[in-house]
Amino acid sequence: METAPTLPFQIMVYWWGKCRLAQAAFEEEPMSPHQIKGVIFDLDGVLVSTDNCHYLGWKRMADEEGIPFDREINQRLRGVSRMESLEIILEKAGRAYTREEKEALAARKNAYYVELIGNLRREDVLPGALDTLALLRQMGIRMAIGSSSRNTPLILKQIGLEDAFDGIADGNRIARSKPDPEVFVLAARLLALPPENCLVVEDADAGIEAAAAAGMRALGVGFASANHKAAWRAGNLAEVDWTQILTPV
Ligand code: BG6
Ligand code: MG
Repeated sequence: METAPTLPFQIMVYWWGKCRLAQAAFEEEPMSPHQIKGVIFDLDGVLVSTDNCHYLGWKRMADEEGIPFDREINQRLRGVSRMESLEIILEKAGRAYTREEKEALAARKNAYYVELIGNLRREDVLPGALDTLALLRQMGIRMAIGSSSRNTPLILKQIGLEDAFDGIADGNRIARSKPDPEVFVLAARLLALPPENCLVVEDADAGIEAAAAAGMRALGVGFASANHKAAWRAGNLAEVDWTQILTPV
């Protein structure tokens, strides 16, 4: 003879059902561990051409101080913070500078730089960048900025991309700049994605290192298209085959 289920048994069945529902919701969107769901873009040299403005700003300050500085030294500044860039430039200085003097030199360079980027326009956005943002948006890929620059908000406004991203991690929000992974870890957090589902797009070797340290794969463009640590490489964003990158493996 069948007996009616006891109350504890009914409670157990009820909770088992609840757990299954929660699990189903979690599994609703199956994600391969390597599937790219978010793209984190470096800004300078990836989306917009600001390299020359940085160079001219530093060059003006260095000339005024009588410190030798050229485009070769400038290559070492790619991706690193303002103060670390200054330290690299001061390697060639004839004397030591105090902390206050260094802050004044960095501020002076930044004033020259901000004056120059005041002329940035939508036309200064690098080849393929706008089409890439539109395509990824259409595909439902989350997008963030991961830049060492404290001028990120100003630059994005200048080129009309201030509302194009789901998260902005920049030099104003981090303590350690690339090759430290902090900026990309913050960007992934803003996108609510684990590192393995994020792709970093970078033009600096320091940025490729930072992506690896964050546990993310990287697409090297421009200067970093020669970096063999990048999972994908392209001259610029116009050359990228996104179908290949976004197809789960
Ligand atoms: C990076 C540039 O994006 O930003 C570096 O590649 C620069 O060259 C760094 O030093 C910091 O920029 P900012 O705008 O904060 O002086
Ligand atoms: Mg860059």
